[in-house]
Amino acid sequence: MDPRDVLAERVSEALAAAFGSEYASADPVIRPSAFADYQANVALPLAKQLGRAPRDLAAEIASRLRLDDVCERADVSGPGFINFVLRGDWIAAQATTMLADPRLGVPPADPPSVVTVDYSGPNVAKELHAGHLRATVAGDAVARILEHLGHTVVRAAHLGDWGTPFGMLIEHMLDVGEETARKQLAVGEFTAFYQAARAEFDGSQEFADRARRRVAVLQAGDPETRRLWQVLVSASMEYLTAIYRRLGIKLTEQTMAPESFYNPMLADVCSELEEAGIAVISEGALCAFPPGFTGRDGTPLPLMLRKSDGGYGYDTTDVAAIRYRLIELHAQRLIYVVGSEQSLHLQMVFAVARQAGWLTDPATAEHAVIGLLTGQDGKRLKTRTGEQVKLSALIDEAVERAGHVIADRYDDAALRDRIAEAVGIGALKYADLSVARHSSYSLDFDRMLALTGNTGPYLQYATARIRSIFRRAELDPDQVTGTLRLTEEAERALALTLLGFGPAICQASESAEPHVLASFLFDVASTFTTFYELCPVLKAPDAATRETRLALSALALRVLVTGLDLLGIAVPDRM
Ligand code: ARG
Repeated sequence: MDPRDVLAERVSEALAAAFGSEYASADPVIRPSAFADYQANVALPLAKQLGRAPRDLAAEIASRLRLDDVCERADVSGPGFINFVLRGDWIAAQATTMLADPRLGVPPADPPSVVTVDYSGPNVAKELHAGHLRATVAGDAVARILEHLGHTVVRAAHLGDWGTPFGMLIEHMLDVGEETARKQLAVGEFTAFYQAARAEFDGSQEFADRARRRVAVLQAGDPETRRLWQVLVSASMEYLTAIYRRLGIKLTEQTMAPESFYNPMLADVCSELEEAGIAVISEGALCAFPPGFTGRDGTPLPLMLRKSDGGYGYDTTDVAAIRYRLIELHAQRLIYVVGSEQSLHLQMVFAVARQAGWLTDPATAEHAVIGLLTGQDGKRLKTRTGEQVKLSALIDEAVERAGHVIADRYDDAALRDRIAEAVGIGALKYADLSVARHSSYSLDFDRMLALTGNTGPYLQYATARIRSIFRRAELDPDQVTGTLRLTEEAERALALTLLGFGPAICQASESAEPHVLASFLFDVASTFTTFYELCPVLKAPDAATRETRLALSALALRVLVTGLDLLGIAVPDRM
């Protein structure tokens, strides 16, 4: 059980006893404390409300507290804080319960709901670049965390496989010949292919006209055009799923939900909005003008639902997608893990969904904003020639460098490569996940691969170290059971930290912020390191102490492995 919940409950009881039952619902404001384990700050806001001295109020609340079973001490301090020092035997009992609990104290969602997580945001015939890293790994971690809590998670990538570029891509394919194009795409040379098509489009009026006609023919469903389009889509699908597999991202062809998936719904969505008066014809196009969105000059901003030539675009598929998620999938929570530059677009889509009555209480839609991955100069990451850095290049470099970091430890090349893969990718993902997702950070291979500090390799290394204890003891850490008795300060600190697992996961899920879980896991690894330096496990002074220390080690291992898995980070057995 989360100590904060118990303390909050007891403080609420004291508030009710002191001031009447209406005060039981006041937030007790339980926070970690620098001078004790936790503190309650409720006396400060309450003093304002009641017009009394905060310290007196705190003393009055403290005198009503019934906490003997949980706390060793509860004292008033400072301007009116109540400081709590938990009892060692209470912490030990909670940790003992956690050790016997396969869920490790993580409460199942009650009630579970349907949640869609829209992330990664790839496009057909384009390679994933550095800018996709954040939206891909953060989205996958959010999905994993929600799933672990028991929610039904629907993953979606909203793969861009539709719209105007496909006219020029298909015409270019016809120009170079289908076989040549297939070969080029099979080796993943999307960028070259795309750029060549673009150059033709920009350089030739005749080509541009053909490309535009081709889009119309594609959207009208012409079978031969669809077949050519499918060549592009299949090649991209293969490329994307290979990268996702390598990164441990659980997006598959089945879950990609590309834009074209919504094609059959677009006409109906448009007429529904037009009939409801939410969309109107403006200069020949069908547009929605959700209230409250205006340009700099005060004119209402449109969501373009149907262009004047009858074609549909990005706005339309997003409006159809949100309708589908709410009405067909009955999703109660919609999370869009997308870069901050699309904030206006998404807010307008949400607004139209509200106007249409699709997005109604208690369902929510949220833009989980993603910050930039930058170069050392703080600007968007670019190659020397000014192009986007490919995601595959980032992965390759991380893995190669990881190989150097661990090279001298292994003679067996295959084993070394396997560990380098896990360490390199783990480092890259963890560096990203440990930063608040809306913040930007700069790429730094040396820092992310360091074996100390808040890094992936440090956390992986902590698990490897714990495993080696159990190997030496010839015990299976998954089978360890027992009763904890805490005597040393470092044991107590580790046990108390471990109790924060459930709360960290709940908080990460509520705010869709994997870094909350990442920083908790770093706390666990650091507290474990201190514990391991100060408290011999296998050479503990007596059997009861050994039992406690083995139990703490096993619990730390389970929490780290489960937590890292929820972040999508693999842990090698040894390092
Ligand atoms: N493919 C889009 C892009 O490259 C991102 C998709 C984000 N998701 C969404 N539902 N709009 O900009």
